[in-house]
Amino acid sequence: MTTTTWDSDSLRARFDEVRAETERLAAPLSPEDQTVQSMPDVSPTKWHRAHVTWFFETFVLADCEPGFSPFQDAYWFLFNSYYESVGPRYARPDRGLITRPGAHDVGTYRGNVDARMRDVLGSVDGGTLDKLAPVIELGFHHEQQHQELLLMDIKHVLSRNPLQPVYAGAPSPRSEPDPLGWVDVEGGLVEIGHEGEGFRFDNEEPRHRVWLEPYRLADRLVTNGEWLEFMADNGYGRHELWLSDGRARVVQDGWRAPFYWSELDGVWFEHTLHGTFPVDPGLPVSHVSFYEAEAYATWAGKRLPSEAEWEHAVEQDGQQVRGNLADARTFHPRAAGPSTGALRQVYGDCWEWTSSAYHPYPGFQPAPGAIGEYNGKFMSNQMVLRGGCALTPAGHARATYRNFFPHGARWALSGVRLADGGAPVRATGVVA
Ligand SMILES: [Fe+2]
Repeated sequence: MTTTTWDSDSLRARFDEVRAETERLAAPLSPEDQTVQSMPDVSPTKWHRAHVTWFFETFVLADCEPGFSPFQDAYWFLFNSYYESVGPRYARPDRGLITRPGAHDVGTYRGNVDARMRDVLGSVDGGTLDKLAPVIELGFHHEQQHQELLLMDIKHVLSRNPLQPVYAGAPSPRSEPDPLGWVDVEGGLVEIGHEGEGFRFDNEEPRHRVWLEPYRLADRLVTNGEWLEFMADNGYGRHELWLSDGRARVVQDGWRAPFYWSELDGVWFEHTLHGTFPVDPGLPVSHVSFYEAEAYATWAGKRLPSEAEWEHAVEQDGQQVRGNLADARTFHPRAAGPSTGALRQVYGDCWEWTSSAYHPYPGFQPAPGAIGEYNGKFMSNQMVLRGGCALTPAGHARATYRNFFPHGARWALSGVRLADGGAPVRATGVVA
């Protein structure tokens, strides 16, 4: 999954960097914080810390360490996520019951595997290093995925605590809603998918042709203020706006606002990683499901972009990969800022729902062996999201990256960018 050139020094330096970042993110959390599983989709922080360690132990050390044996036999079972080829695993919804090993023991496990990995990287011959480098690099990106999940998951854990504890960060100054503009894209026969240098997951390949009718994309994400208008217009109550499955969830689960919103004396508040505050109308709406994003687009007389439309528009725009990602340490979406005539909030802030089902690209080939279970087997009943969010590690966002969640998922930091056909529309802001 890579064409990056590595030597043992650069691999070791990157290994230390990625591993240290996970520990920095976990540092504000007590052992008790790190143990709780607040719903089946959430994993405890210490489980994330152990599982990414298990990944290196299983897919690197077991493959090359002379006389290999696991640090603890039980960990092989406890911290396997979903790799059937590796062996049996502990039930995901019960991860919060693993009170032992404790957070401190997980730290010991991490330290042991770190030392063994450094030994391997300092001692293997060039041929072995070339063979190991792709899976070690996959381990870096895997750990970064879990860094993002760790933050999404602890946000939910802390939201269930009546004391509303703060993880880190501070709210941004209250923002003014910015006019929405549109960026026109010609379309035609275009190419999407990864090609050339740099890391990519197997699901981003191969690059292939797609036909796009002319279209336009909103130049920023939908804001909380706009979402409040949708709610005030009985958006959650009007069946005609919703897909049937979405409507069923609204009724079954009582949805009437985004996931982390709560109403107190007629005022809407939002839970964030830095506390609970009145909803800021200028910030992007976040923690909405695909169903909600789709219903909002219908209400607005627009639609969601396909993943091909999103990727092609971003490539055409020629934007650098930068934005409000996890290295900014805001841990929350920020306002779009003034119009530029180009797409804003492409990378960072919120993962953007697309209208595309998560399917293999034409010619998709999963990697051989257990690593082939990484992506391919999840290609049903999920929708693609693009762009990254405020919890995504820097270096883990790119134009071809395909994230995916089930239609009803709301705990991920997901938002909405509108699309429209190529015909002129009435816009309140800049029309590029
Ligand atoms: Fe994983």
